[in-house]
Amino acid sequence: MVLALLACDVPAGPDRGRAPARVADDQPVADDQLTVLDSTFEGDVSGWEGLGDATVRVSGDDAHGGSRSLLVTDRAEPWHGATAGVTGLLTPGTDHTVHAWVRLGDGEPGTELQLTLEHRPGDGADPAYQHVDSATVTADGWTDLGGTVTAPTGTGEVRLYVESATSLADFLVDDVTVTRRAEPVETDIPALRDVLADDFPVGVAVGPQDLVGRPAELVARHFSSLTPENALKPVSVQPAEGTFTFDAADTVLDFAAAHGMGVYGHTLVWHRSTPDWFFTGADGEPLTDSPQDRSVLLARLEAHMRGIADHLRERYGDDQPVWAWDVVNEAVDPRQDDGLRRNEWYRVLGPGYVADAFRLARDVFGDDVLLLINDYDTDSPDRRRVLLDLVERLRADGVPVDGVGHQLHLRLGADVGRIDDTLDEFAALGVRQAVTELDVALSRTSTEELGSTPPERLDEQRALYAELTTVLRAHAADLTSLSFWGLYDTRSWLRTWRMERPYEAPLLFDDDLQAKPAFWGVVDGAG
Ligand code: G3I
Repeated sequence: MVLALLACDVPAGPDRGRAPARVADDQPVADDQLTVLDSTFEGDVSGWEGLGDATVRVSGDDAHGGSRSLLVTDRAEPWHGATAGVTGLLTPGTDHTVHAWVRLGDGEPGTELQLTLEHRPGDGADPAYQHVDSATVTADGWTDLGGTVTAPTGTGEVRLYVESATSLADFLVDDVTVTRRAEPVETDIPALRDVLADDFPVGVAVGPQDLVGRPAELVARHFSSLTPENALKPVSVQPAEGTFTFDAADTVLDFAAAHGMGVYGHTLVWHRSTPDWFFTGADGEPLTDSPQDRSVLLARLEAHMRGIADHLRERYGDDQPVWAWDVVNEAVDPRQDDGLRRNEWYRVLGPGYVADAFRLARDVFGDDVLLLINDYDTDSPDRRRVLLDLVERLRADGVPVDGVGHQLHLRLGADVGRIDDTLDEFAALGVRQAVTELDVALSRTSTEELGSTPPERLDEQRALYAELTTVLRAHAADLTSLSFWGLYDTRSWLRTWRMERPYEAPLLFDDDLQAKPAFWGVVDGAG
C-alpha cells in the first residue's frame, strides 16, 4: 500500500503528537503510566497524514477534548483514512494501550471504523497488522476505539491507522493517546550526589509535581539541593502586593527539609516573572525615577524579601533550608556602556539597583545565606567581561556579593575550555561560584527542530557532560554546587522554548525517568 500523502490544509507540524511536550508546574503527572503519544489536534495535525487519497485537516467543527479535532475527507477507498508514524515512540516488545476518539461527519449513516497498528519491517517483508479495536460509529457522538497492542520488535516503520471497513464517510478523530506502564526508578545505578560527594553538592530544579511518585524517588536518590524552578519567583510568591502565596514553594521546601536537603533560592530581582504592580504607582501609572518612587520600589523589594524570610522563619525556625539566593538574575547586557540590562529595576532605581538588592538581601536574610548574582552565557567573552567588572566594582564598594551563578544552558558543541577559563577568572576575584541551571540541548542552534532524538546526539551529549564534569571537578574548591535545570527531559523548559520541541532531550533522565547516556557522562567525568 503506497501512502499517497495529499496536501493537508494545515501542514503537518514537527510535533508528531508525542507525549505532552512539557508538564506544566501545576499539572499532576500520571505516575504509573507513561504517555508516549498524545495527539489533541489543538494546534496542528500533529504529524498525522492522509492515508491513500484521504485529506486530513484540523477542524473546529467539533471536538472530543479541547476545541479542535482532525477531519478526514476525500476518502475513495475504505482503507483511506488517517495515519501517524509512531516508530521510535514505542518500546519494542512492550504492551501499549492505544485510544482514539472518533465521530462520523455530519449526516453520515453509522458505520464501522477501525484502529490498526501496522509494522512494515522493510527489505520487502510483508507488513504486519495488529487490530487495536473497531466499532460502529455514528455522527451523533464520539466513540472510543481502544485496545492494547504489543509494540513490534525489529527494524522498520510502525504506524497507527484509523480507517473504515466498508464506508467512504468523512470522519473526525481526536485525543489519540498511546501509553505504556512506566518503568520503575532505577536503584542499581550510582547516586549522583555520591558520585560527586567529594566535589560539590548536586542539585536539581524542581516543581511540586516532581516531588510525588516516581519523580520524588529520583529526586530523593540523586540530589542534595533543590532549586524551585518557579515557585520562589516574585510572580509566584507575591502575585499581588501584600498577598504572599507559598503553597508551591512549601512543597519544595518541605521536601528538602524532610530529606535533609538545601534549597537554592531562585530568584528575587529579575526582569521576568515579576508582577507589574512592583513598578506601578498608586495612581496606576508606571513608577518614575523620582526619589519618592525609588523609595516606593525599594520598600516593596524589602517587603518582598521580608515576607519570604518571615515565612521561612515561621515554618522552619532556625533550620530554614534556603542556603543561597540568586539575589539578582540576568542583569548583564554587554551592549550597554555600563554593561547593565535596561529593565524596570534599572529604569526606576538606576544602575545602583543591583547594590541596593544585595544590601537589602544581606540585611533581611542574614550572614549565613550565600548571596549570588546569576546569569547565562557567562562563558561568552563579552558577557563574562561585563560580569567580572560588575562583580569587582560591587565588591570594591563593599556590596555583599558572595558569589556568581553560572546558568550554563549549553548545547552540543559547547566550548568547555571557555567554561574552564571563566571559572578561573571569577575565582581570581575571590568569589564563590555555582553552576545553577545546567542542561545540554541536543539542538545545535536555537532554531533547529529535531524530528527525532538521534542516538548519536545522545552519545555526543554524554561526552560533553563527561568533559564538563571533569572541568567542574577541577574547580571543586571554588564551586558551591552543581545544579541541573530539570529532573527529566519531559520537564525541560527546552521542550517548549520558542516552539514545541518534543524531541529535545537536554537532561540526565529520559521521559520515563531512566538514566540516559548523559547520566553516564557525568559518572564518567567523576571518574
Ligand atoms: O503555572 C502557570 C499556569 O497556571 C498557567 O496556566 C500558565 C499559563 O501560561 O503559566 C504557568 O506558569 C508558567 C511557569 O513557567 C510554570 O510552568 C509561566 O507561564 C512560564 O513563563 C514559566 O516559565 C519559566 C521561565 O523560567 C520563566 O519564569 C520556566 O518554567 C523556567 O524553566 C524558566 O527558567 C529560567 C530561569 O528561571 C532563569 N534562567 C533561564 C531559565 C530558562 O528560561
